[in-house]
Amino acid sequence: MRLWPFRRRSRDAARPRWDLSDTLLHWSRHDAWSLRDAVEGTIVVGATGSGKSSGSGRAIALAMLRSGFGGLVLTAKPDDLATWQRHCREAGREDDLRVFGPDSELRFGFLDYELNRPGRGAGLTENIVQLLSAVLEVAERGSGTGGDGEQYWKRAQAQLARNAIDLLSMATGRVTVPELYKLVISAPASREQVRSDDWRASSFCFRCLGDADRREKSPEQARDFELVADYFLVEFAALSDRTRSVVVSSFTSTVDILNRSLLRELFCTTTNITPAAAEEGAIIVIDLPVKLFAEVGQFAQVLWKTAFQRSIERRNIEASPRPVFLWADEAQHVITSGDAMFQTTCRSSRAATCYLTQNISNVYAALGGSEKGRVEAASLFGNLNTKVFHCNSDPVTNEWAAGLIGRTRQAFANASNSHTAEDQMTSLLGLPGAGGGNSGFSESYEFEVQPRAFTQLRTGGPEHRWCVDGIVFQNGKSFRASGTNWLPVAFSQR
Ligand SMILES: Nc1ncnc2c1ncn2[C@@H]1O[C@H](COP(=O)(O)OP(=O)(O)OP(=O)(O)O)[C@@H](O)[C@H]1O
Ligand SMILES: [Mg+2]
Repeated sequence: MRLWPFRRRSRDAARPRWDLSDTLLHWSRHDAWSLRDAVEGTIVVGATGSGKSSGSGRAIALAMLRSGFGGLVLTAKPDDLATWQRHCREAGREDDLRVFGPDSELRFGFLDYELNRPGRGAGLTENIVQLLSAVLEVAERGSGTGGDGEQYWKRAQAQLARNAIDLLSMATGRVTVPELYKLVISAPASREQVRSDDWRASSFCFRCLGDADRREKSPEQARDFELVADYFLVEFAALSDRTRSVVVSSFTSTVDILNRSLLRELFCTTTNITPAAAEEGAIIVIDLPVKLFAEVGQFAQVLWKTAFQRSIERRNIEASPRPVFLWADEAQHVITSGDAMFQTTCRSSRAATCYLTQNISNVYAALGGSEKGRVEAASLFGNLNTKVFHCNSDPVTNEWAAGLIGRTRQAFANASNSHTAEDQMTSLLGLPGAGGGNSGFSESYEFEVQPRAFTQLRTGGPEHRWCVDGIVFQNGKSFRASGTNWLPVAFSQR
């Protein structure tokens, strides 16, 4: 069996309409991957060097670029930018590439964007809270506040963020990172402090409460103000010292990183690009790879990802029909608990998520490793409908992939065969057409694709004649070339 990704001529990127039935690429002569499939999400799993980026990743990226998608690319490795520059060149989309990073002029004032975007209203504070909560979530990984009490801390931090943002915008009419920081560190540490003249005279939080109180308010704003004042003067002040210090320190340490050098410059100054640019066809690459910029890179990527998801969810698909992709290589660095929810709704916003990762255990670990993390990961995997498996030696991933594909009654040959390199995968996967000369069979109810089959897929490079093997799985699909819901595909790296 010989299968290949189908290459198509570059299409007019300015084409006004996209149809969900549009073909983006062919997995085989008879099996197409459509725009509908793309917006149902994709996950590519394979060990380091298995050919995720240069095999299926490249084929999928080129297909979406050629179809005129806009998109957001989150990076993990220093060479990810060069990879996407190559992709854009190959797809004739160089002019649409926007690089957001330390060497570019692009700035994204995320708070201003949320405050000033059209259609602001009740969701305003909540959007900013969601952005900050996503960043807090990745900041917290490995800090020991996960596990059983995780939900409590998350709620407490979100509550602090919500009240601080509300108070600042009521008092000053704007929300800035330095003022958020100043407000939270000057909030009352006890009921005595609330009554103390010293605290009242020096606290920025108290000054904001006074300013907000004096402002003219609608009945709704007056109710909001009452809640905010109660929170800071009663609830927050009465928290135990330990609880308050954990909530405040995790909040301020995160906000502090946003408030320093590179991130302050990129995210807290002006705005000349926003996630909405992707709807116009921009390919925004966040060139702050996690491997190079560590936590700072991770914060930047997660901020962009979350702002992009919020922005895309809000768009009017009639007025802005261009499909967009959200791309993350080594996605475990940027996956947060909000992704599963986004994935359940993004289809109607024409957003195609494509996550590449080495194994599924990484994703479990990223989402906290607890039972809840596993459930969130399972939901996310379930909602990334196209799955591409490359060579892997991780038994958890291989068993999972084999389990997804399922078990069937199978006949096993008792005699061995020799095969050429061409039909190696065909024989490994037990597909028809694999050699001949079997002398005996036994039957059993077995994995249709054995977990060990994933350890033997070709990984590209000269020794495999630049061929990368992948097994494409789509729930609910019957591939014509295989008659099942999975299909072996050989991707060319060239
Ligand atoms: N354009 C290319 N031509 C030939 N070989 C390549 C090309 N790009 C990568 N390779 C080689 O092919 C193999 C697969 O590389 P690739 O970068 O796609 O793996 P990957 O699964 O993305 O790995 P990682 O998890 O480390 O990102 C590697 O051995 C790599 O050196
Ligand atoms: Mg890669």
